[in-house]
Amino acid sequence: MSTNGEGQHPVKLDFLGNLRRTHKCGELRAENAGDRVLLMGWVHRRRDLGGVIFLHLRDITGITQVVFRIENAAEVHARAEHIRGEFVVAVEGNVEKRSAETVNPNLPTGEVEVVVEKVWILNESKPAPFPMEDDLSVGEESRLKHRYIDLRRHRMQQNIRMRSDVSFAVRNSLFEQGFHEIETPFMTRSTPEGARDFIIPSRLSPGSFYALPQSPQIFKQLLMVGGYERYFQIVRCFRDEDLRADRQPEFTQIDLEMSFVQQPDVFVVIEKMLVRAFAAAGFQIEAPFQRITYREAMDSYGIDKPDTRIPPFHRVESLFEGTPISGNGLPMVAILIPKVGQISRKERDELKAFGQEKNLRVFDDAKRLERDYPEQMAKVREITGAAEEDLLLLANWAAEPDAHLPEREALKACGQLRLYAAQKYADRHKLLDPKKFNFLWVVDFPMFEWDPEENRWVAAHHPFTSVHDEDLDLLTTDPANCRAKSYDIVLNGVELGSGSIRIHRADVQQKVFSALGFTPEDAQHRFGFLLEGLSYGAPPHGGIALGLDRMVMILAGETSIRDVIAFPKTARGTDLMCEAPSDVPDKLLRDLGIMHIRK
Ligand code: AMO
Repeated sequence: MSTNGEGQHPVKLDFLGNLRRTHKCGELRAENAGDRVLLMGWVHRRRDLGGVIFLHLRDITGITQVVFRIENAAEVHARAEHIRGEFVVAVEGNVEKRSAETVNPNLPTGEVEVVVEKVWILNESKPAPFPMEDDLSVGEESRLKHRYIDLRRHRMQQNIRMRSDVSFAVRNSLFEQGFHEIETPFMTRSTPEGARDFIIPSRLSPGSFYALPQSPQIFKQLLMVGGYERYFQIVRCFRDEDLRADRQPEFTQIDLEMSFVQQPDVFVVIEKMLVRAFAAAGFQIEAPFQRITYREAMDSYGIDKPDTRIPPFHRVESLFEGTPISGNGLPMVAILIPKVGQISRKERDELKAFGQEKNLRVFDDAKRLERDYPEQMAKVREITGAAEEDLLLLANWAAEPDAHLPEREALKACGQLRLYAAQKYADRHKLLDPKKFNFLWVVDFPMFEWDPEENRWVAAHHPFTSVHDEDLDLLTTDPANCRAKSYDIVLNGVELGSGSIRIHRADVQQKVFSALGFTPEDAQHRFGFLLEGLSYGAPPHGGIALGLDRMVMILAGETSIRDVIAFPKTARGTDLMCEAPSDVPDKLLRDLGIMHIRK
């Protein structure tokens, strides 16, 4: 005996025993009329009309309406009076066709209902903290605290199942392309992917720590040294970094590495895999994908992960040279957002204010520009193809340029303005259609990036990335112009994955470490085992890793990766359900040789 969810009526719970389902809740159709069936599931909705009780019974396949009629089975009807939302029940009865006026067109099973003759209450439920609807207005905190309930919602089930289907397709495609799935350690040494490490103290070596891998980068390279030629893994990675909608402290990569390859060979593998993965989610995509260089991406979009659903901007500084609105020799761009129509004064001011924040002067009044600079503007219209209803903006840099990469800073700001304007007006004409998948390979990234905080060059991808053969000498003479054999795959403005052809020679690897400012001792201390490995006949190799969470997020039309991860962390890196991170007993800390810091 137990009480029901509201603590009022005693509810006798039944055992599952030998009861088994004949059908799932999403399966029954008009052809099943007359069948005797046994269904099990959760009570999604309950309607009590006195002599008749209707339940919507839900399982992972869908919902069926079941009916308890007092005139058919008074005892069973009496039991149904105790049933509440989210109770787990089994019902047996006959499938009946609904009358035309009671058909529910919103349910695939809506032409039938099950008239119940027997019922078993397998478990009760406290009232759910939020409804099971798809469009939920409840805060994410509550959803994450009761994640197991949130996971019951149709939308979440669709997302999580899609993730499983996509992973399956990825595995299949890679197996077919000759890859082996090989696990690499989680308790390891620090890997340099640019974030902080999560560390694990060692009891057996007091004062020493393992690091959780930020990626399997070094291990997959050593697997190539080990002769495996084609490795992949759908693998969890751990990074202690500031979190955003598309970042989690633990996330999943589709990670792979191949021997004796160059960039195009990696692209072919990934394109095949993505065609298969997208098909598993119900979308047909076309390969090969467009390729542009990093330089072209910056010059046309001001960002290294362009969203090509929006047109590129155009450099126009040469047209305005010598005019009062020309900048200080830095880029001036024309931004075009199609079919925006008229925008208000307030909206114009917002665009200007955004530009100002980014050190840009924004010229938003195309009419006025046309009056003041008719020749130049005629050219601008020609280059951009701007029509009457399009929004046309000019922008240039309005501040002292950064000493190291002035042009890049200016272009980045223009790129941000382009995206801001596009996102602001996207709704007006479905410019950013989430079902339009624009893939793009961005290639030839610079090898180094200037880090103003550390005041030194850092690896733009990671320090194991190969330099272009013809740029090898620039490593020491001109790091800013040294190009890497690295590439990103971008989807609708999101960096989906990153990879490179690696350095396979120990002497070149040493050179890159020293260009990055590692002393030989430093390099030996951190990556000695890799250098050692490379010195034993490492084959030329390269690879890539794609963010599975980000990919499924885009496929599912979600805006946060939390909605495609079963048990994600909050933006503060906490798990609200199991309350991690948590305190640990003093004894455990003592064993690890760690002093307890009281909060
Ligand atoms: P990178 O660091 O670019 O490359 O990571 C590859 C891809 O992993 C995803 N990703 C993340 N997803 C969710 N949350 C995060 N915190 C997060 N960080 C990264 C992104 C990203 O494009 N070892 C190299 C790959 C290689 O060179 O082969 C690497 O890890 O989608």
